[in-house]
Amino acid sequence: MTMGAPNMDVLVSLSKRRGFVFQSSEIYGGTGSVWDYGPLGVELKNNIKRVWWRDFVQQRADMVGIDASILMHPTVWKASGHLDHFTDPMVDCRECKRRFRADHVDTLPWTHYCPATKGNKFSIPAGEPCGHCGQRRTLCPECGKGELTAPRQFNLMFKTFMGPVEDEAAVTYLRPETAQAMFVNFDNVLQSMRLKLPFGIAQAGRSFRNEITPGNFIFRTREFEQMEIEFFVNPNDRVDGRPADEFWHDRWIEDCMAWFLRYGLTADNLRLREHERDELAHYAKRTVDIEYKFPIGWSELMGIANRTDFDLKQHAKWSGKSLTYFDEERKEHVVPFVVEPAAGVDRALLAFMADAYREDEVRGEKRVVLKLHPELAPIKVAVLPLLKKRDDIVRTAHAIRADLARQWRVVYDDTAAIGRLYRRQDEIGTPYCVTVDVQTVGDTERGEAGDGRVTIRDRDSMEQIRVPTAELATVFRELLDAAAWTQVAARYPSPPRS
Ligand code: GAP
Repeated sequence: MTMGAPNMDVLVSLSKRRGFVFQSSEIYGGTGSVWDYGPLGVELKNNIKRVWWRDFVQQRADMVGIDASILMHPTVWKASGHLDHFTDPMVDCRECKRRFRADHVDTLPWTHYCPATKGNKFSIPAGEPCGHCGQRRTLCPECGKGELTAPRQFNLMFKTFMGPVEDEAAVTYLRPETAQAMFVNFDNVLQSMRLKLPFGIAQAGRSFRNEITPGNFIFRTREFEQMEIEFFVNPNDRVDGRPADEFWHDRWIEDCMAWFLRYGLTADNLRLREHERDELAHYAKRTVDIEYKFPIGWSELMGIANRTDFDLKQHAKWSGKSLTYFDEERKEHVVPFVVEPAAGVDRALLAFMADAYREDEVRGEKRVVLKLHPELAPIKVAVLPLLKKRDDIVRTAHAIRADLARQWRVVYDDTAAIGRLYRRQDEIGTPYCVTVDVQTVGDTERGEAGDGRVTIRDRDSMEQIRVPTAELATVFRELLDAAAWTQVAARYPSPPRS
């Protein structure tokens, strides 16, 4: 039996229990909407970034990467429009001082002191009137007493000061997106790498947004990581009879969708959503979101925008530097258009975890298993000694771990009986376990020689094969390079039934 998608509480609890994600500064009561990645979380997150970089940067001839600073010149944010436009309309309660997004107030359940019932307090579902007096919400939804202010624009950028003096001249911001560094470095990259259009600049790194309604675990946080690509195209080119920017926009939508499918997200849990005209960001000609069916419902996993020449033109205007490309064929300078596939690492991690989560029943017992793609799994192999009191078994298991660990993240565990050790590895998504037993090392007291083979157990099918120790690295190279288990298993015997 396999259950469907888990709810968020199940993922939060698994994440904490097994060391994926902890609340930041938990011993002090936690910090609002920032999270820390634990020993397994950091591996999973690094694996997501690593395969993204490998697939979209390393393997492509038309892509280069950068790693820019989080603190940038403050004028960057004037030029990009973030100082003026990166705002949410907010209302404040004059009584309890809570702040709400103006467009979210009526999506919240509201507190009401009902005049028709001598002022009794009720919590009324979002958008509904009071069942006793018929009134609709006008006051603060939280305290039910305070008037709300008129909406005011609230900038989402974190402000800070550069240098020793905290005055207006020293004000700067933590970047709210990694993208701007690709635009301000456009000419540096173009000149130093002698690139020809179309080409992309990629970056993975931290961004910060003082989100007013953060929440839902790592879905929307105030500090997060992005993996962004700015793919520059010549707006005068045509590809397959279409303007180059439009062609490449569609191509990137397809490639990003294929990427999420390749690493395990279920097709039924993914969909595309075209932005309506009135919701397009100030820089975008067209934006398409890849949405995922998160435990909280369909929500944005990543966005792919056609930002036109907005950013390069703005930075050229504010910096006074030319940010153009010389088109050799047409003998003219052009300002490239840019297509921007922008993904969130934390959201991708949440989607991969949610999609991988299964509850099976094995011989009447519940088995929780994270069916993570082997490339994403935090630990690739767990080496388990069948008898921890036998020195030769333990020694062999440690030696196998050390050997495999030169290539992959591999752990040794002898802290429970084998069945329980398997369950623990299933729950964190380890695709393979290696068991060292008496048969491997032999029994000198009985004069029996070992066969030098160990058992490999496959997480998903729970099938087992006996493989010579000397062949382990080759077998795991195949399996972790995505060879089918059945194909590899066909070459080796199953262990004898115990
Ligand atoms: N440069 C374009 C840009 O930043 P965005 O849609 O605002 O576009 C891109 O962000 C991606 O970054 C989102 O699709 C999401 O995955 C992630 N992201 C944005 N804000 C986030 C937040 N507060 N917490 C976690 N991830 C976030």
